[in-house]
Amino acid sequence: MAKRLVVLVSGSGTNLQALLDAIATQGTAVYGAEIVAVGADRDGIVGLERAERAGLPTFVRRVRDYATREEWDAALAEATAAYEPDLVVSAGFMKIVGKEFLARFGGRFVNTHPALLPSFPGAHGVRDALAYGAKVTGCTVHFVDDGVDTGPIIAQGVVEVRDEDDEAALHERIKEVERRLLVDVVGRLARHGHRIEGRKVVIP
Ligand code: GAR
Repeated sequence: MAKRLVVLVSGSGTNLQALLDAIATQGTAVYGAEIVAVGADRDGIVGLERAERAGLPTFVRRVRDYATREEWDAALAEATAAYEPDLVVSAGFMKIVGKEFLARFGGRFVNTHPALLPSFPGAHGVRDALAYGAKVTGCTVHFVDDGVDTGPIIAQGVVEVRDEDDEAALHERIKEVERRLLVDVVGRLARHGHRIEGRKVVIP
């Protein structure tokens, strides 16, 4: 049985598109997973348009519509849980989830980050690596824990920084590597399962 994925987005959704394309090309049986819904923390983003174009149900839970961050987190968890996902993928989802979300999806909530963690966590991984003068950077696919980009690492991809790079150019090259990595990792998790041993992720 193909595993059920809910994908969370906040922006352009090119990582979501890469997953959609891989599933469409390979078929759910071969890839091992299907996307059952796409969630977001804001309206009017290209990521949601991509989901709608693919005929997928979407949901939006905006922080400002809730009295507290905890209520937002519970609402996001509830909306996600309604689709009974086996795995949840944060693909450019720019919010830190809270206790309730992690209680339900911890250990099966995957994030992709545009830097080589533990270097340059947070919302500006590309800009921070560039400003630091790093010569290589890349992307990290990891499980989410209760820190900011601190969870167990599943896979990483390396990208060289060029002298002429600005944030946009470097991010574009990172995203090329990132999309392939995410598609590969999610497929392997779906087909083979995984266990987390301390900080180590094992995909048998
Ligand atoms: C990706 O590069 C992802 O790593 C990054 O946002 C981009 C989303 O692109 N996420 C973060 O920076 C999270 N801290 P996309 O919307 O085109 O998939």
